[in-house]
Amino acid sequence: MNTYIEFAHIYDELMEDIDYYSWMDFIKYILDAYDKKPHDVLEMGCGTGNLTRLLCKEGYNVIAFDLSEDMLSIAYNKLDSYRSIQLLKQNMIDFNLNKEFDMVVSACDSINYITDYSELMKAFANVYSHLRPGGVFIFDVNSHYKLKNIIGNNTFVEDQEDVFYVWENEYDEVNNICEFYITFFVKEQSLYKRFEEIHVEKAYTSSEIENALRKSGFKNINVYNGYSKELPNEETERLTYLAMK
Ligand SMILES: C[S@@+](CC[C@H](N)C(=O)[O-])C[C@H]1O[C@@H](n2cnc3c(N)ncnc32)[C@H](O)[C@@H]1O
Repeated sequence: MNTYIEFAHIYDELMEDIDYYSWMDFIKYILDAYDKKPHDVLEMGCGTGNLTRLLCKEGYNVIAFDLSEDMLSIAYNKLDSYRSIQLLKQNMIDFNLNKEFDMVVSACDSINYITDYSELMKAFANVYSHLRPGGVFIFDVNSHYKLKNIIGNNTFVEDQEDVFYVWENEYDEVNNICEFYITFFVKEQSLYKRFEEIHVEKAYTSSEIENALRKSGFKNINVYNGYSKELPNEETERLTYLAMK
């Protein structure tokens, strides 16, 4: 699929509003609350390494992976100065690292890119088998509410300094799949380069996610309103899950 290729090179510019520091603060809050002191950390769908960098700064021994080579190449340059990081090209659905971790994280709706429920279960089972007993799994998803009602069948236009993009969406109510057709125009000297990407995210219900976690063996499952200590409500757009082995 045509995802995170050329987009990778402008991803950070478009994600400027995301406060990864507050996401890291939330992760630290959870770890403190449950008296967890991780050493080995795995990040799935690390993208350009924005959260990865903060995990490295915390002093964790980090392995981070993604499916997109273009995203990984940006992450590689960003994380060049850290010694405690290994970047890999792997798929969340079938990775096998032959290693156990104290914490697995996955941020910014990477999990929604798993569009088949049986594959979501495989991914969760895989996370479970890569965690040490007592290990924690923290991840977020775009909520069913957001994908259906906010992104849904709507079109968004964004005009930034060097990037103009049109983001047209189609929501399939039967399968709860949202397709994003994004056309980018990126300024290169005095011309704009045009390219297109198609992204597909699945809107999982909370019960689908919680059942998949339980079936994989996870316990102590909690869900939050984004990266805040608040409980979610019906209009929460980003749900952050905590589950333990
Ligand atoms: C919205 S980006 C989030 C990137 C990063 N976690 C962040 O916080 O900025 C979603 C990422 O998930 C990756 N991804 C999608 N499906 C994947 C899969 N099956 N295995 C590994 N990575 C995947 C994409 O390549 C992309 O980098």
